[in-house]
Formats: sequence, structure tokens, C-alpha cells
Amino acid sequence: TSAVALVPAAGRGERLGDKGPKALVPVHGVPLVVRAVRGLLSAGCVRRVVVAAPATALDTMRTVLADAGADALVVPGGADRTESVRLALDAALGESRDVEIVLVHDAARAFTPPELVRAVVAEVAGGSPAVVPVLPVADTVKRVDADGVVTGTVDRADLRAVQTPQGFQVDVLRRCYAAAAGQATDDAGLAERIGVPVSTVPGHPAAMKITTPFDLHVAEALFGVRA
Ligand code: CTP
Ligand code: MG
Repeated sequence: TSAVALVPAAGRGERLGDKGPKALVPVHGVPLVVRAVRGLLSAGCVRRVVVAAPATALDTMRTVLADAGADALVVPGGADRTESVRLALDAALGESRDVEIVLVHDAARAFTPPELVRAVVAEVAGGSPAVVPVLPVADTVKRVDADGVVTGTVDRADLRAVQTPQGFQVDVLRRCYAAAAGQATDDAGLAERIGVPVSTVPGHPAAMKITTPFDLHVAEALFGVRA
């Protein structure tokens, strides 16, 4: 079974500092978006990738991906992640009608192992309408008030940190975005809102999201020179 992957890559990367669009930031010379697209294609179960790029960096992103031999359709993204995914989904469905499984994968999770991509696709192919990779939460989690004073401790046993790629039967994702008013931090959140059951597969530490300069240092230290 093969999937189409949507890659939201249109963010500004503000928490990373003044480095320009985050998806174009290199790790050992290879931009995050190139690593993300290569990772998806190398899983062997993704037949098409659609990247949502910053409107101001469309040509740059096309060039960078083409030069790296990372084949993808690049479309302009939107003002928030939800809008970027919506635009990429429209482009993917406009391009091909026989899509069955859609993945949504952050460009910022550039080091996601291909095995995780395959695990998510396999779970959707097995009949799950929506699938997210999750990790147990290692830290104790507390609730605080507006002054930062602790008001309670959350039982972390039933908490999970959620990663991407998230996988969907195409009609489920279509319905999510047809119903979506406002934004969500992930796509499965939209599925939950319309009552679609979301199942989980074990995530992977390497699917970490590059958000801060610290994350970038970690990636530089952990991952080799080759993409
Ligand atoms: N994203 C997007 N379109 C937006 C905002 C975010 O496609 N308008 C993408 C980002 O490019 C990233 C993913 O959504 O791959 C996750 O978002 P995040 O890690 O928050 O990236 P940024 O929004 O770029 O970072 P920041 O919030 O620090 O500015
Ligand atoms: Mg953001």
C-alpha cells in the first residue's frame, strides 16, 4: 500500500532564532526539508510528497529540493500550520484521485526513521482511520496558575507526547479539513473533534521536532554528515 505525504514546511522558525525559514536551515549542510522529504521517500511506501513552503521562499525551496534529488510538489503554505496542511491536501487531491492513505509530517521532524513512516502507513492500511506515533512522557507534569504557582500534578501514566507522521484514510482527512474552523496543533486533533477514533503506534526519539537552538545542536551531534 502506498501513501501520499503532506509536509508542512511553511513556518518561520521563530523559536529557532533569526535563521530564516526553519525548513531551509541546514544540519551538516543538508536543509531540514530535504532530510524530511528523503526520509519519507526512502520508507518505500510513499509515492508522492507535497511540501507547503513559505510563500516568500517558494522558488528557493523548489531549487533546494530539486538539487538534492528529493522529488516533491512544492505549493505555497498558509498563515498557520492548519492552513498549510489544508493547501497541501488540496494540491495532492487535485493532482491524483486514487489516493487512499495520507500522511502529514512536519518538515521540522527531519530525522524521523523510515521504519516509523512504515509503521504508521501499515496501521492505516490495517483499517485504522487515524494514527499517531506517541512516546510516554518522561517528566512529571504539573498544572500552574497565571503566577506560575503549582495547582496540581497530572497523572502522567495516561499521557503521551505526539509526533508525526500522522496517518489518515483520505476521506477522514478530507472531512477533518472540511469541518475545520480555526486551527489545531496537530491533524489528529481535528479528527478527534469530528468523533473519529485515533489510534497510536510507538513513536521514536529521533522523530523529535527541531524547535529550539538546543534541538539543532542535539541533531548536529547525533546525526551524521550524510542525509
Ligand atoms: N508550519 C507550516 N505553516 C505555518 C506554520 C508552521 O507549514 N504557517 C510547519 C512548520 O514549517 C513545521 C511544522 O509546521 O514544519 C511544525 O511547526 P513549528 O515547529 O511550530 O515550526 P515553525 O512555526 O516554523 O516554528 P516557530 O513556531 O518557532 O515559528
Ligand atoms: Mg510554529
